[in-house]
Amino acid sequence: MTDHSLVLRAKIALLIPHLGAASHELWSHPRVAELYPEYLCMLHTAIRSTVPLMENALERSKEIADHDPTAAALIPYLTRHIKEEQGHDEWLRQDLAAIGYDPDIPLRRLPGAAVANLVGAQYYWIRHFHPVCLLGHIAVLEGNPPSRALVPELMRRTGYPREGFRTLERHSALDVKHRDELMHTIDELPLTEQLVTAIGLSALHAADAATTSLGAVVATAGRNVPAPAGA
Ligand SMILES: [Fe+2]
Ligand SMILES: [Fe+2]
Repeated sequence: MTDHSLVLRAKIALLIPHLGAASHELWSHPRVAELYPEYLCMLHTAIRSTVPLMENALERSKEIADHDPTAAALIPYLTRHIKEEQGHDEWLRQDLAAIGYDPDIPLRRLPGAAVANLVGAQYYWIRHFHPVCLLGHIAVLEGNPPSRALVPELMRRTGYPREGFRTLERHSALDVKHRDELMHTIDELPLTEQLVTAIGLSALHAADAATTSLGAVVATAGRNVPAPAGA
C-alpha cells in the first residue's frame, strides 16, 4: 500500500477551483433551463466513451501484461469497472426525453472539439504510452461527484421534473463508491515514478479539458439550443 492516491488528489486539487468555477457558472446561469439539455448532450458525447476507453485500456493491458506488472494489475479493476459503467450514456438519453427533448440529439450532433480533446488524449496515452494513464482521467471524471443538493436546486431553477436528472442523481451516490475503489486501486498498483507522473499528467489534462467542455456549454447560452421534441 502506497500513498500515490494522496499525491494524485493533491495534484487534481490544484485545478478543481477552475472546474468548480465552470460548474458554478453553468448551474447559476440565468438561462440554465436552456443550458441543461446542452449539458446533457455534451455529457453524452463524453460518457459514451467511458466503457470503450476502458475496453481499449483493458485490451492494451492484456497485450503487455506478460512483461508489465502494472498492466497485469490493472486488468481486474478495468474488468470490474467496465461492468459498473455500462449503460450510463442511456441514462442521459432518458434524461433528455424526460425534460421534453429528443433523446437522439447527442447521437446526431457533431461532438465538440473540447470533448474530443478530453477523450482523444486518453486513446493516445493508452495506445502509445501506457493504459494506466486512463486512471488519471477517471479520477477527475468520477472523483468529483455532484452534491446531493444539486438536483433539488436544479429542479427548482429549471422547472424540470426529477426524472430529468437521473444521471446527476445516480452519480452523486455511485461515484463516491467508484472514487474510493479507484483510489484504493491506485494505492495497490505497482507504479514507477514515471507512471505516477503519467497518471497525474492525464488527470491534469482531464480537469483542464472538462473545464473547457463546461465552458463550451455555457457559451451556447442564447444560441444553438436544441429544440424540445415535437417543437
Ligand atoms: Fe457513470
Ligand atoms: Fe462511476
